[in-house]
Amino acid sequence: MLAAVYGDDAGSTDLRVREIDTPEPGPDEVRVRVAISGVNPTDWKARKRTPLPPGRVVVPNQDGAGTIDAVGPGVSPARIGERVWVLMAAHHGHGTAAQYTVVPAAHAIPLPDDAAFELGASLGVPALTASYCLNTDGSPADRVVLVSGGAGAVGHAAIELARVQGARHIVATVSTPEKAELARAAGADTVVNYRDADAAEQIRGAVGDGVDRFVEVALHENLELDLAVAAQHAVVTSYAADEPSIAHVPVRRLMSLNLTLRFMLLYTVPPAQLRDAIERTTDAVAAGALTTLPLHRFTLEQIAEAHDAVERGAVGKVIIDLP
Ligand SMILES: NC(=O)c1ccc[n+]([C@@H]2O[C@H](COP(=O)([O-])OP(=O)(O)OC[C@H]3O[C@@H](n4cnc5c(N)ncnc54)[C@H](OP(=O)(O)O)[C@@H]3O)[C@@H](O)[C@H]2O)c1
Repeated sequence: MLAAVYGDDAGSTDLRVREIDTPEPGPDEVRVRVAISGVNPTDWKARKRTPLPPGRVVVPNQDGAGTIDAVGPGVSPARIGERVWVLMAAHHGHGTAAQYTVVPAAHAIPLPDDAAFELGASLGVPALTASYCLNTDGSPADRVVLVSGGAGAVGHAAIELARVQGARHIVATVSTPEKAELARAAGADTVVNYRDADAAEQIRGAVGDGVDRFVEVALHENLELDLAVAAQHAVVTSYAADEPSIAHVPVRRLMSLNLTLRFMLLYTVPPAQLRDAIERTTDAVAAGALTTLPLHRFTLEQIAEAHDAVERGAVGKVIIDLP
């Protein structure tokens, strides 16, 4: 099969396309003919920041969507032909930047006929992260939610999931009018430029008693703003660590608010909570509540450009069409 790979005898991080063996599904695994691979920041970061041992070759990308074409022992053959979205494919050893990937059967999630592969390839990392951040301390129903970076992939999913789960008010923060429009289209009630000097006043004016849940992309930059608008018993969940990633934590102010500061990394969330996030995402797709950001399409041959686009902070969703 054709696959994008990196790694060689010198541990190179350069991407190239080549023929490699098509993987076979093992026990409790399925093989998926990938239609679309989704690119996330984790994909270029894993490639550039994690030193590869010489000789190891990696197919990148965690997210994707396609059709099951083979099943391993223990999986019903009735699943062959099922449209699915997959999660953590590269983490399992077979990234989605290839014509075929193999994942545990439980990580190939049915995609309804009316949901496009483009949406399926946008779900894994962003929607599961967003769902975990929103739900781990109880449902966001009837809560005030603040999503920082509301036009990012995780932020977009967080707004849409909070909306379908019945959040009372959703605030999104952004840095440009273009991103404000995307956050509004996703369902944010209030959109604020986090660089405005009066950002806290704007948020407090919109939400009254304060924010209950924060889905936080830049804790080190936003903790002051979050504390200025937090309600008692608020939960701030931090899911990103772009540099500088050292936050100053004013302990007494957090104590006074009885505030929970939570951190998460998708690859290590407890299995029960991962299953919960998958279920909530599945329900939201079935309800037609999740959409894609504007798409930036690349071919497999253009994978290096696709990774570069994500690294540069492309506004929208970067996807790769598999041949
Ligand atoms: N912990 C995990 O398991 C996990 C899971 C998914 C993603 N992540 C990480 O989370 C980050 C975001 O991922 P993504 O896929 O959503 O990326 P993305 O699509 O590039 O979105 C990032 C968004 O954050 C915004 N942003 C940056 N600094 C901000 C600030 N100080 N306040 C508010 N918004 C800010 C950006 O817009 P502006 O720059 O215009 O503000 C952009 O819209 C990445 O670092 C990724 O590696 C971690």
